[in-house]
Amino acid sequence: MQLINRPRRLRSSEAIRRMVREHHVRIEDLIYPMFVMFGEQKKLPISSMPGVHNYSLDEYLLALKEVVAAGIPAVLLFGIPEEKDEVGTGAYDHHGIIQEAVRLTKLHYPNLYVITDVCLCEYTDHGHCGVIQEGRVLNDPTLKLLAQTAVSHAEAGADMVAPSDMMDGRVAAIREALDDAGYSHIPIMSYSAKFASAFYGPFREAAGSTPQFGDRRTYQMDPPNGNEAMLETALDIEEGADIIIVKPALAYGDITYRTKEQFGLPIAAYNVSGEYAMVKAAAEKGWIDEKRVVMESLVSMKRAGADLIITYHALDAARWIKEDES
Ligand code: PBG
Repeated sequence: MQLINRPRRLRSSEAIRRMVREHHVRIEDLIYPMFVMFGEQKKLPISSMPGVHNYSLDEYLLALKEVVAAGIPAVLLFGIPEEKDEVGTGAYDHHGIIQEAVRLTKLHYPNLYVITDVCLCEYTDHGHCGVIQEGRVLNDPTLKLLAQTAVSHAEAGADMVAPSDMMDGRVAAIREALDDAGYSHIPIMSYSAKFASAFYGPFREAAGSTPQFGDRRTYQMDPPNGNEAMLETALDIEEGADIIIVKPALAYGDITYRTKEQFGLPIAAYNVSGEYAMVKAAAEKGWIDEKRVVMESLVSMKRAGADLIITYHALDAARWIKEDES
């Protein structure tokens, strides 16, 4: 054979494979989502997400110690309030669960970067991400409450806010409210391309945020639509988004790729609860090699163009990355 090009030459040993490796998952890329609630000494397992818990604040602090020791730079916080009501008061309460969790985090770990999810669905009794009238989720009246929520998170000391509601105009509303309140330095990481996905199932068990009627398809995007994701992203950037979240991650690598190509802003891929649950379930059965499947999934997000990865696997991934370096 007169073969000149033999790509296998650069695959012949671990040394050369490492040398020509194009993408890497770094511990600094990881953002760890955590669920916090009131109470004491509670660490409630979430059955569909083995290894993930709902933490009371004292247990949350203990867990943070591990996160910091692992070198993970950031957490994304979700709150489970004691009470829910029609307008999600708990979301923007000065003494709400997120506000308390943020203050506590900053007191104990001032260098840990704290990102807060800004949404109403965990705080409303109907489980929707906005205000309801006659069975419809109202857009503009919701914006005020989201903006109020973001400001209250910033007041508590959040480093960055991440609106996940998918109302039109919320990035602009939040940007304006933050600026007016003296928080022009706080960035917005927007869930711009957020699809109405079945992959959020386990999260809703964790956060108790399943809609009590209907679904989220009137505000989250239709999964077959890629161009629409580019439109949403363009609008969010115009409104002041600093980082773009693509969510879910695994089935939406094309969206990550297009977003990076078209806009160039930092992108965070959200490796969501259902993606985590599938890997955990198959690994538990011994059907897949968990470490290899997780790391291959995470690096696929980097290859697609993600800069950051929000993942429930963060603690394991950080450990595996360290292991492989040594
Ligand atoms: C709140 C929110 C959800 C997720 C992040 N923020 C749930 C939803 O939109 O129903 C999902 C995260 C996950 O599945 O891991 N709106």
